[in-house]
Amino acid sequence: MGLTDAYGRRINYLRLSVTDRCNLRCCYCMPAEGVSKLEHRDLLSYEELLRVSEACVREGVEKIRVTGGEPLVRKGLVPFLKELSGLAGLKELVLTTNGMLLQELALPLRKAGVARLNISLDSLKPETFARVTRGGDLARVMSGIVTAEKAGFPPVKINMVVMRGINDQEILDFAALTLKKAYTVRFIEYMPTLCDHEWGAQCMSGSEILQRISERYPLLPLVSAEMAGPARNFRIEGAAGAIGIITPISGHFCESCNRIRVTAAGRVRSCLFSEQGVDLKPLLAMSDDDTLRQTVRRIVNEKPGRHHLAEEQEEKQRVNMSRIGG
Ligand code: GTP
Ligand code: 5AD
Ligand code: SF4
Repeated sequence: MGLTDAYGRRINYLRLSVTDRCNLRCCYCMPAEGVSKLEHRDLLSYEELLRVSEACVREGVEKIRVTGGEPLVRKGLVPFLKELSGLAGLKELVLTTNGMLLQELALPLRKAGVARLNISLDSLKPETFARVTRGGDLARVMSGIVTAEKAGFPPVKINMVVMRGINDQEILDFAALTLKKAYTVRFIEYMPTLCDHEWGAQCMSGSEILQRISERYPLLPLVSAEMAGPARNFRIEGAAGAIGIITPISGHFCESCNRIRVTAAGRVRSCLFSEQGVDLKPLLAMSDDDTLRQTVRRIVNEKPGRHHLAEEQEEKQRVNMSRIGG
């Protein structure tokens, strides 16, 4: 069996947020004062997260990406991941992290069955990195990436949110990271999740980013892998790694969307930008998982055709990325 929505899209990818907490406060994700935190009792327990995941996998999810906030700050994560990676029918368990705790955790994550890591990294300059993340330590993240490779992870994917006037001068430096190492560097259009007034001036379109790179390096298009996320991929001629462009604003990829999300508080959102979502907590209070599975099917069936983010910025509510997990 598989999960197909009303628009014929096959849904095989679950983004599972395990916490809204984070050890950084990236400027595009959180306001400077931070966001209100969920109480521990409001988070899904690991047992509940496993039940939700199992229901989704039994219905047709094949890939789970664990997200946060910052997933590695939640205590007890590694044993949970070990159980998660053992779910029958799950083909791929992957994780998105800011890399701050990878030095300590890369090897245990690998042993728990995590197949690949995506790392959020918006600057290669220590001061800019500290400014964008409001306190992050670039050296820690870079050394975490090296530790991940030593632990046996395939070369990481790096996510860079491009912000004009803040880190756009580093686009070519990021592209150059792929020349010798098989990293995939993905340039992401800045989404107005905080309804930030500066957003319009700072958001740089995927085509402008590509233009900048291709003025310096010839780019060859690549075919996306099955179960891939929204990136369009390229390779600099002769490079070991790849370059991806993620364009939620200028070229929304909703028509090929393959995912649903479960937030740290146990709401399923069929779209990153759909309001609220459906609360799974009452269903998890019951012991039978049939209703849970039916609910997953219903939510998929009601998944909206597309988001209207770029058009509706004015009236939109803030999207709490640290609670949803991007
Ligand atoms: P892969 O499985 O490696 O392809 O990962 P991914 O790109 O799906 O996941 P990742 O966590 O690395 O997210 C990369 C960026 O894409 C983040 O900025 C996400 O917020 C953004 N993103 C992921 N999924 C969606 C989506 O469904 N809609 C929108 N608008 N943005 C998304
Ligand atoms: N715009 C673009 N990307 C964002 N992310 C978080 N907030 C935004 C935003 N407003 C990205 C992070 C991380 C991923 C999970 O989501 O950089 O890589
Ligand atoms: Fe933390 Fe990720 Fe948000 Fe940055 S983008 S503050 S690393 S949750």
